[in-house]
Amino acid sequence: MLPYPVIAIDGPAGAGKSTVARALARRLGFFLLDTGAIYRSLALFAEQQGVSWADGPRLGSLAEQLPIRFGRGDEDGVVYLADQTVTTAIRTPEVSLGASQVSAHPEVRSMLLGLQRQLSRSGPCVVEGRDIGTVVLPDAPLKIFLTASPEVRAQRRQKELEARGVRADVSDTRREQEERDRRDLTRATAPLKCADDAVLFDTSDRSLEQVIDDLAIIAQTRLSL
Ligand code: DC
Repeated sequence: MLPYPVIAIDGPAGAGKSTVARALARRLGFFLLDTGAIYRSLALFAEQQGVSWADGPRLGSLAEQLPIRFGRGDEDGVVYLADQTVTTAIRTPEVSLGASQVSAHPEVRSMLLGLQRQLSRSGPCVVEGRDIGTVVLPDAPLKIFLTASPEVRAQRRQKELEARGVRADVSDTRREQEERDRRDLTRATAPLKCADDAVLFDTSDRSLEQVIDDLAIIAQTRLSL
């Protein structure tokens, strides 16, 4: 049994997950656990430690001692790796590729399970990822699977990168997205899939406000908030 209300949000990159999860957490006063940031931090940590993104066993050991910490309150959204702030360093296209590669290793996924479960028990939270409703928190009382058309997803991703000052072109973004999707959907351990009991929600033709309004109502009803 989970001690606090938890909302699991899964879906592919560019479906609006990060933006939606953050806005929904803020609306409900919940903590946001961005599990993608954990895989991204591991990819960055591996690079800093000279460990290859292809080396499952060594990545598993690194995952066991991953010195990650999420800021709270005023530092909401800030990610620390030991004493270093890595909030933007983990968002580059290179680290995105690394995160996708490290997340495919079963040693990494099983090692990071405990950490994700422990972090999601610290208070009411929205947990965002790929396998939250299916593997990490299969007993979450509310699971949402967000989708959007591939065109909309690539455009959103590009805007997101540009807003962070990372230059990217739409066709490269689309190609990288397809590559990551293929890897996320076909990996043997915890592939991206919609849980049977998840609410499937397409964000292509809805504004962020509409999505948050709809999801907040679903959350309030399901979780008796
Ligand atoms: O959501 P994101 O783009 O920040 O995720 C980065 C990578 O980590 C992505 O390739 C998928 C992977 N990931 C995962 O396998 N499982 C999760 N729960 C979260 C992210």
